[in-house]
Amino acid sequence: MSMPDFDMVLFGGTGDLARRKLLPALFDAHRAGQLHPAARIIATGSHPMSTEDYVASLEQGTRARAEGATPQSWAEFISRISYVQADANVPAHFDVLAERVHARSPEVLVCYLATAPHIFVPICEQLARTGLNHPNVRIVLEKPLGHDLESSDAINSAVARYFGEEQIYRIDHYLGKESVQNLMAIRFGNALFEPLWRREWVQDVQITIAEELGVESRGDFYDRTGALRDMVQNHLLQLLCMVAMEPPASLSEDAIRDEKIKILKALKPITPQEVAEKTVRGQYRAGAVGGQPVPGYLEEKGIAPDSRTETFVAIKAEIANWRWAGVPFYLRTGKRMQSRVAEIVIHFRDVPHAIFPRPVTVMPQNRLVIRLQPEESIRLYFLVKQPGDTVALTPTSLDLDFGNSFKGRRAGAYERLLLDVIRGKLGLFVRRDEQAQAWRWVEPILDTWAEGGSPRPYTAGTWGPAASTALLSRDDALWYEEI
Ligand code: BG6
Repeated sequence: MSMPDFDMVLFGGTGDLARRKLLPALFDAHRAGQLHPAARIIATGSHPMSTEDYVASLEQGTRARAEGATPQSWAEFISRISYVQADANVPAHFDVLAERVHARSPEVLVCYLATAPHIFVPICEQLARTGLNHPNVRIVLEKPLGHDLESSDAINSAVARYFGEEQIYRIDHYLGKESVQNLMAIRFGNALFEPLWRREWVQDVQITIAEELGVESRGDFYDRTGALRDMVQNHLLQLLCMVAMEPPASLSEDAIRDEKIKILKALKPITPQEVAEKTVRGQYRAGAVGGQPVPGYLEEKGIAPDSRTETFVAIKAEIANWRWAGVPFYLRTGKRMQSRVAEIVIHFRDVPHAIFPRPVTVMPQNRLVIRLQPEESIRLYFLVKQPGDTVALTPTSLDLDFGNSFKGRRAGAYERLLLDVIRGKLGLFVRRDEQAQAWRWVEPILDTWAEGGSPRPYTAGTWGPAASTALLSRDDALWYEEI
């Protein structure tokens, strides 16, 4: 499919996300010949700056991240970029921007809002005032969209005054990861797993997104946000939907999103009385990650010294429907954990009657591990007979490492999603009702935590507070941790 000609206006062009993720992703797409030759990138920020200075400012962080940038490919790429000052409170800036945009009429105009969410609405107002909300405009909204259901609803309603839902791309970059696509392929492209993918055969599901990084330079943002809003309300719940949804009738955008919303609606609410039993919040203390000493959360820049913001969350979720009733979905995420790993683990039930001597473990022996990070792999664990004169069983696994099995370049999550926006494919973006439902589910937890209590401390470089292990051991379960 040939790529349409487009212009992309990058609001928040001087910010971290644009420099570290979006521009490198666009560079990759450029280098792979995926961008129309005439396509332009118009970066905006609230400060005055010349295009030359803006492009020079990309030399350090962005260029270093643009893998394989040769002087020629980089020069070609930056020739697409210009900079315009666009403070959402200054209409005159948007007149200049609109003039720049109207100088050409590509098939598609993408407006990427990589700014703080409180300026999404003023930006949309200005876009509409200057005629930049015609049907060929697509608007990309970065997370977090609001702080709770009410504020996210207010933003969504305001944006909806100027743009139709089919023009709005709410991005969750986890949906662009190759392994998440593969999860769909495994489930719905093969008959093998589907009969087992249900309460009769699945003992529990675990979804982990663990990071080694701390809050980096985003202390101020993070302290107002916390792990539940930053990771669970979006990335973890989206992964849960991909694991648990019914087979969609097709790959069309609404077929997939209709199935995801059913799961979000079927999530059993966690009542304020159940919060203590079904959730764990943690906050890291000084420790060591990868052999290097790191400070505690409260010592990080931008963090209130008495902050109660959680940097770790573990939750026992349940889905109240016929397929999943009674199967725990354990979710966890944290900063400054022992290793960077994101994976989905499906534990299958044990045989009803064991005739072979078996290894003694708490963990079920049949497990499917879908790893998203650091490498992409799928591993199926089962028992085989130990070689030799014995009938005892021993665990082994069938491994599929995508890096080894499929050579060649694979698009990163942001690159894939940006190309989808340009092509007008909405399937991997979050619909308004999904987002609202995810807020509805996390809110009682947020509210209960806000009322009192403190996150449990954990040492940086570990797997989180001991209470996270206890959350599972109450069900005779264990977190799967193989790095
Ligand atoms: C972002 C969060 O959405 O995801 C960050 O705001 C987090 O706090 C990041 O570090 C993790 O993404 P990835 O792709 O590096 O696992």
